[in-house]
Amino acid sequence: MTLADLEAILSEADPDVFAVASAESLDALAAAERALVGKGSPMSRAKQSIGQLDAGEKPLAGKAVSAFAERVAQAVESRRAELETIAAASAPVDALDLTLGGHARPRGHLHLVTQVQRELEDIFCGMGYLVMEGPEVEDDWHNFEALNMVPGHPARSMQDTLYVDLGEAEQVLLRTHTSPVQIRTMETMTPPIYVVAPGRVYRNETLDARHSPVFHQIEALAVDRGITLADLFGTIEIFVRAMLHDDRIRTRFRPDFFPYTEPSAELAVSCIFCDGAGCRVCSQTGWIELGGCGMVDPDVLQRVGIDPEEYSGFAFGFGLERIAMIRAGIDEIKTFFDGDVRFLAQF
Ligand code: FA5
Repeated sequence: MTLADLEAILSEADPDVFAVASAESLDALAAAERALVGKGSPMSRAKQSIGQLDAGEKPLAGKAVSAFAERVAQAVESRRAELETIAAASAPVDALDLTLGGHARPRGHLHLVTQVQRELEDIFCGMGYLVMEGPEVEDDWHNFEALNMVPGHPARSMQDTLYVDLGEAEQVLLRTHTSPVQIRTMETMTPPIYVVAPGRVYRNETLDARHSPVFHQIEALAVDRGITLADLFGTIEIFVRAMLHDDRIRTRFRPDFFPYTEPSAELAVSCIFCDGAGCRVCSQTGWIELGGCGMVDPDVLQRVGIDPEEYSGFAFGFGLERIAMIRAGIDEIKTFFDGDVRFLAQF
């Protein structure tokens, strides 16, 4: 046996090394590997014959055997990777039924009242108003006194108040309207003032089709030089048209009384549920009251340090649920607070 004989054994096996690349399965690949490097294979025969070689040829023979073993290992590894990729790609195809229906995840969205609130904020922001916030737990001063309702004033009973019991501490209440934000704004800003203040308010009231003990209002306040009643009516006109999107709805202003505005008015819109004929929702009147408004009383301006000789203002406060009811044709205010997703998902 010579080095040349050994090399011949290995090179005869070369075509089989190339054939590894066409093994059809992992089992066939293992068999091909065994045939090349296993017991009785060309490589094991070559290895065994190294001992019969001259000492000078042995290292060269060892290198030739190692190189052959390396070629076989590379060929086997590369085909194994190919076969595994093919197997992985074909497995999910068998398991995946593309005709099966999917599971749509329901997506939440804003509550209808919040949608109405955001839309109103946008309308007023477009007219240059700022959006303000005030606390829901208020003090007597901001909710009543600063608005011309001293303790014992009969107008306090217009809104049945829920008080927070703090023992001996000062009287604290759940705000009955968003008008205290007028005071908080005028205490911190100087005219010109153009703000809206949406938010939740509370009254100790019995639930009916249009009344809830918890509801939302949006307050608007404008204080500037030369503000007149015409500005108030013009602003409300724009707001009602932008908000209600319905030409059939008629608006009505009637004189009203609020201690903090003079003159004062009430805005109502024709009832969409009976088209003004009278029904349960509008208490047979044909009209649904949206809110109150008026020119800011000079006493109120003076109390917060604004000179009524120089500045005048208007204010209004509207019920957001009422607006949402008219917009969406909802005849029970309670449905806004029930939290029934089947109802809320419609809007
Ligand atoms: C007020 O709250 C005055 N602060 C409004 C105001 C602001 C007048 C600025 C002048 C200047 P009133 O109590 O009428 O007013 O309430 C205003 C609106 O809130 C009502 O027209 C109605 O749309 C809504 N509202 C009143 N009570 C309830 C209730 N219990 N449930 C649902 N909405 C209500």
